Amino acid sequence: MQVYLDNAATTPIDPKVIAAMVATMEQNYGNPSSIHAHGRKVKTIVEKARKTVAGLLNVSPAEIFFTSGGTEADNTAIVRGIIDHGIMHAITSPLEHHAVLHTLEELEKNGTIRLSLLSVDGKGNVDLRQLEQLLKENPRSFVSLMHANNEIGTITDIEYVSALCKQYQAIFHSDTVQTMGHYVHDLTKLQIDFVTGAAHKFHGPKGVGFLYVNHHTKIKPFIYGGAQERNMRGGTENVYGIVGLAKALEICYAQMAEHQQYIQGLKDYMIGQLKMHIHGIQFNGDITRENSLYTVLNASFPCTDMADMLLFNLDISGISASGGSACSSGSAIGSHVLHAIHADNERPCVRFSFSKNNTREEIDFVVGKLRTLCLEKA
Ligand SMILES: Cc1ncc(COP(=O)(O)O)c(C=O)c1O
Repeated sequence: MQVYLDNAATTPIDPKVIAAMVATMEQNYGNPSSIHAHGRKVKTIVEKARKTVAGLLNVSPAEIFFTSGGTEADNTAIVRGIIDHGIMHAITSPLEHHAVLHTLEELEKNGTIRLSLLSVDGKGNVDLRQLEQLLKENPRSFVSLMHANNEIGTITDIEYVSALCKQYQAIFHSDTVQTMGHYVHDLTKLQIDFVTGAAHKFHGPKGVGFLYVNHHTKIKPFIYGGAQERNMRGGTENVYGIVGLAKALEICYAQMAEHQQYIQGLKDYMIGQLKMHIHGIQFNGDITRENSLYTVLNASFPCTDMADMLLFNLDISGISASGGSACSSGSAIGSHVLHAIHADNERPCVRFSFSKNNTREEIDFVVGKLRTLCLEKA
């Protein structure tokens, strides 16, 4: 049996998305910037996709910019949001994806900003009281906090953060890469400045994503060149990727409640089975339903002598998951997230991440393998 439980890394493309992309490839090869009929036809396809994405997020199509993925969208929001608004202080958490952390660290290193890192508790909750205190002391800050963590799944209340940011005139960016397509995002209600998405995390193609920029938040172009993306991002559009992204998001929204219930059921089942069969199992992050991304489960195993061999053994048993250890301070390897929440660095940790394609039989197979591996080493 081959089991794929690494859907937070990337998801398989939905067959309907592939069909939509192939149909576009076969029938439409014009350049959307060309003014002749072939070009105009493809331009219409791109704008239709933009309208679909905007409609699902309840914003205007002019607020959606297609990018090469989540990393580019995060980089753009941070660099342009900070530089174009003359921001001198930014606030984030040590649990952010490197697309956010490394970008902010670079701006700190080159003297553009001072960077404050929020404290986090053992479950990955950021200290929102400290955030308010920092916002009070530094009005007009830039805040970047992800909606759900990609390694441990802990959710941050971005509605609350957006209200705080509004109160203290801060610019708010949220990396929503792991929750886009998995939760309803009504961005008008949220009053946020920047939001990011990557199609490959919601059964769309790789190498395409988007950045939402609130129309009140003016920024300069992020890639200079042609007039694509309303002069903001030069370069011929990834037309087929954009078509796939819009189709994938549309499918997610149409079946969201059903998929959420199904996937949450798989996660709950796996938690129960792991607790039942593996003595000493622990979980990293907050695993309560309200405060945890339903697609992610990070478990810490008692077989301390196995380290990375646990993942390797799962791999040779046909099971794809990811993980790592907390690593000791200063080490080049290991997870910065597990390290920040002080996960036990002796215990191997595995992130299992689920999708609509997984089944209970797969979970039984994985738990059975884990049980054998841990017992062998006990
Ligand atoms: C939370 C988060 N942000 C950003 C990214 C980067 O997205 P992309 O791979 O599309 O550049 C990822 C991907 O792993 C992610 O999980």
